[in-house]
Amino acid sequence: MLMQKLTQAAECIKKKIAVRPEIALILGTGLGSFAELLEDAVTVPYSEIPGFPVSTAPYHKGQLVAGRLGGKPVVVLQGRVHYYEGYSMQEIAFPVWVLKLLGVTTLFVTNAVGAINLDYRVGDLMMISDHIKFFNDTPLRGENIDEFGPRFFDMSKAYTPALRELARKKAEALSIPLKEGVYAYMSGPNYETPAEIRMLRTLGADAVGMSTVPEVLAAVHGGMRVFGLSFCTNMAAGIEKEIQHLDFTKVAVDHFKALICAMIAEI
Ligand code: HPA
Repeated sequence: MLMQKLTQAAECIKKKIAVRPEIALILGTGLGSFAELLEDAVTVPYSEIPGFPVSTAPYHKGQLVAGRLGGKPVVVLQGRVHYYEGYSMQEIAFPVWVLKLLGVTTLFVTNAVGAINLDYRVGDLMMISDHIKFFNDTPLRGENIDEFGPRFFDMSKAYTPALRELARKKAEALSIPLKEGVYAYMSGPNYETPAEIRMLRTLGADAVGMSTVPEVLAAVHGGMRVFGLSFCTNMAAGIEKEIQHLDFTKVAVDHFKALICAMIAEI
């Protein structure tokens, strides 16, 4: 049943877009403008794709944009859905499985985070080295889709080491400051309590957010290479008097774009 829905969505997209992308990006809060970099862009609103979840969150446009970046075919998901919006884990992962059926082998995911690591500052970029998931639900619960991957799968290199190595190299060449750390996935929509943030820090988390992990689980299960990039919009709860949310700065957006373009040019 799920497979049938996924196939329908993939067939619908294939009919609308000319390219056959192997690289996809899921753009989180604040980064939607990345899609403007695509040449020969074709835009498909999620509402026109059967089964695709439509985001209710602000700044999430809810459209798929396919085109070329530096000549390479790329597909961009402008906007995602979150667990706190009421979607199931499978609904959140749905677009990733559709990307898999489109032939995508490398997935970039971006998001906004609160910084837990006291060496981090608001405005920092962090590539994700690993994650901690704090609730039991997962998109892979239920019957395994063997065509995608095995029932039990390895998460020890979920955030592809070779892509992180490439990012370090490109960031250095472009003089882009880049942290590397562990992402803690919390359900939201509330920000965490100061005690929760102290717990997360003790457990080794560097930043906290409310997205990304369900998509990454589906991608890793499907054998995709994954790169995660986070923007620190605020220091996490309890570090400063109150949570002050910074919108994406122009510098951060420019750094994001430059780093991702440089990486895509080389993969
Ligand atoms: N907590 C959880 N998610 C977030 C935060 C935070 O402090 N900032 C941005 N996304």
